[in-house]
Amino acid sequence: MKRALVCGAGGFIGGHLVNRLKSEGYWVRGVDLKYNEYGNGNADDFVIGDLTDPVVCKQVVEGGFDEVYQLAADMGGAGYIFTGENDAAVMHNSALCNLHMLHAAQQAGVKKIFYSSSACMYPEYNQLDPENPKCSEESAYPAAPDSEYGWEKLFSERLYLTYQRNLGITVKVARFHNIFGPQGTWKGGKEKAPAAICRKVIEAEDGGTIEIWGDGKQTRSFLYVDECVEGVRRLMESDFSGPVNIGSEEMISINDFAKMIAEISGKKITIKNIPGPQGVRGRNSDNALIQEKLGWAPSQSLREGITKTYQWISEQASKEVEELV
Ligand code: NAD
Ligand code: GDD
Repeated sequence: MKRALVCGAGGFIGGHLVNRLKSEGYWVRGVDLKYNEYGNGNADDFVIGDLTDPVVCKQVVEGGFDEVYQLAADMGGAGYIFTGENDAAVMHNSALCNLHMLHAAQQAGVKKIFYSSSACMYPEYNQLDPENPKCSEESAYPAAPDSEYGWEKLFSERLYLTYQRNLGITVKVARFHNIFGPQGTWKGGKEKAPAAICRKVIEAEDGGTIEIWGDGKQTRSFLYVDECVEGVRRLMESDFSGPVNIGSEEMISINDFAKMIAEISGKKITIKNIPGPQGVRGRNSDNALIQEKLGWAPSQSLREGITKTYQWISEQASKEVEELV
């Protein structure tokens, strides 16, 4: 039986990844600061621990693991990473998790480690035109990410690749592009646009108004979590190290995305664009490299994934109301 360690198993993607590995027959240990609040991440063994501590990293990797998945990070949507207020925490916490966990895995003789980088590491100068952003893997340099979160991701990508070059551990690096789906953060300040807009529509009256940050003409693509996990597993099984985009090529403006979610709700909703943290003007995945190297790329439509996500957030919001009554 293969053994995997999932770091960040109490989080959104980590929780889904644990489920996937279990369904493939792996023995899985999860580690996180917290348990997954939505019941995902039911690993065979779950350690509550802080991966900024090298002692914890050394302990959790004991027992022999074939694969380590390092997803633990201090992260959130635009309201968390673009305000500037969390920059020190993001860089300090995430860099320490990466430095110590990678080192502990290499020292313990782990053969293969996965690292979750982000599209936020791409240079801002290629993402100024919302209709024509460039995020092909080779366009990463000269580096100019628009956030400290992106700079930490870029540093850590390079860190992992040095361990592969100098110390022999096989490394896999993926650059995720805005992943969404059920069991993701949908309130509290760290939520990303898909969950935030679903929640705002759910909370609005029929005929009501929702607030959208920026002029709504900024563009993004969003990838459903099951396809993200599929991409991670395919990358792990391949002989390609990356870095490679794992994202959707279905780009949409944020206002059009809000209109799509309003349509799914069946409510008549007016959009009010207000000032707020925005990040880059345009971003879209470029899937040429993943298609070439893995013979696969995500294909599910945004509408399909966001319909399932809307449904799930709607259920969570109803549960909260019931608990208050
Ligand atoms: P998440 O916040 O749901 O999960 C991250 C988990 O890491 C959290 O449960 C958190 O408690 C844990 N963590 C943070 N600091 C820790 C520490 N010191 N010790 C132990 N655990 C710690 O985020 P997610 O959406 O599941 O993202 C997973 C990974 O993918 C992250 O590295 C993130 O930067 C990356 N990523 C995500 C997206 C996305 O759209 N979700 C996009 C690009 C990259
Ligand atoms: N979060 C949020 N909430 N965003 C909103 C809202 C809202 O209520 N209204 C409009 N937006 C806009 C933001 O201003 C931004 O321009 C866009 O929607 C997308 O915001 P997010 O989904 O929060 O983040 P992002 O796409 O800029 O960055 C995310 O994706 C990266 C990978 O592609 C983040 O999750 C990063 O952590 C991640 O690495």
